[in-house]
Amino acid sequence: MTIVYMPPSIRHFDPLHRVFSTWIDHLPFGYDLVTAMRPKLLVELGTHKGLSYFTFCQAMKENDIDGLCYAVDTFEGDAHTDKYDESVFSMVNDHNRQNYHGFSYLMRMFFNEALRHFEEDSIDLLHIDGFHTYEAVSEDFANWYPKVKPGGIILFHDVQARLQDFGAWKFWQELTGQHETFTFNHGFGLGVLRKPGGDRQNDPELLKLLFPGETGEEAAANLRAFYVHASKHMENTHKVKRLRKLEEEKAKAKANEKKPVKAKSGK
Ligand SMILES: C[S@@+](CC[C@H](N)C(=O)[O-])C[C@H]1O[C@@H](n2cnc3c(N)ncnc32)[C@H](O)[C@@H]1O
Repeated sequence: MTIVYMPPSIRHFDPLHRVFSTWIDHLPFGYDLVTAMRPKLLVELGTHKGLSYFTFCQAMKENDIDGLCYAVDTFEGDAHTDKYDESVFSMVNDHNRQNYHGFSYLMRMFFNEALRHFEEDSIDLLHIDGFHTYEAVSEDFANWYPKVKPGGIILFHDVQARLQDFGAWKFWQELTGQHETFTFNHGFGLGVLRKPGGDRQNDPELLKLLFPGETGEEAAANLRAFYVHASKHMENTHKVKRLRKLEEEKAKAKANEKKPVKAKSGK
């Protein structure tokens, strides 16, 4: 039997928050993962301008998911993003208040300082996207792994980025030998790791596709290809929409030019 995978990102996802970030290629997957998991508690380490984080929040809101989201970041930047100014936090904070008030909270602090606010085995979905040296990523993982629920998911961005002193790829290689993982290679790589345990009987379809056991190499390749196409599809749809809007604006401006100017009545 052929399974047709037609997730919500293909049917009705239009990103509300569009800023430059290398996370762009993972938006459909991020949206689908949150929709599928329906997390009670989601934490992101490293938010910057909010591209990944607000995709998660949008999925929570649009799918009526009753959970809480936390974005941890100093909102000052690091040696890879470079230091950035206060306008970044201001923009992220405004967008958060205007769209996700009541369930999404920004924690402006170092990752280590945020640790004490979360209980062991409590986080359903953790996204690690802070500083990308081997030492930093392995420290984030060691500190936060105990906070993740059994059966919970940890995402790692940039697991295929081999530039400067990036070392997430090396740490990811080590993790894949020791844990249940799935790797997307496009968009600088996104690693998906599942913590052992939890009740897996009612796993949503996406989790079954990500972690099908030992027999799934062909299915894994198909899923990888699917999300490469999904991100291209999302960008193309956006381009077409933008072009249509431009055409409409041009047509309106032209129509206004043609309107006869009414003569002023003298007093
Ligand atoms: C790669 S960016 C995050 C990208 C973001 N997820 C996106 O979708 O574009 C990394 C962020 O992590 C933050 N960061 C790095 N190390 C940190 C630490 N130890 N504590 C708090 N924030 C940190 C930086 O300030 C920066 O904004």
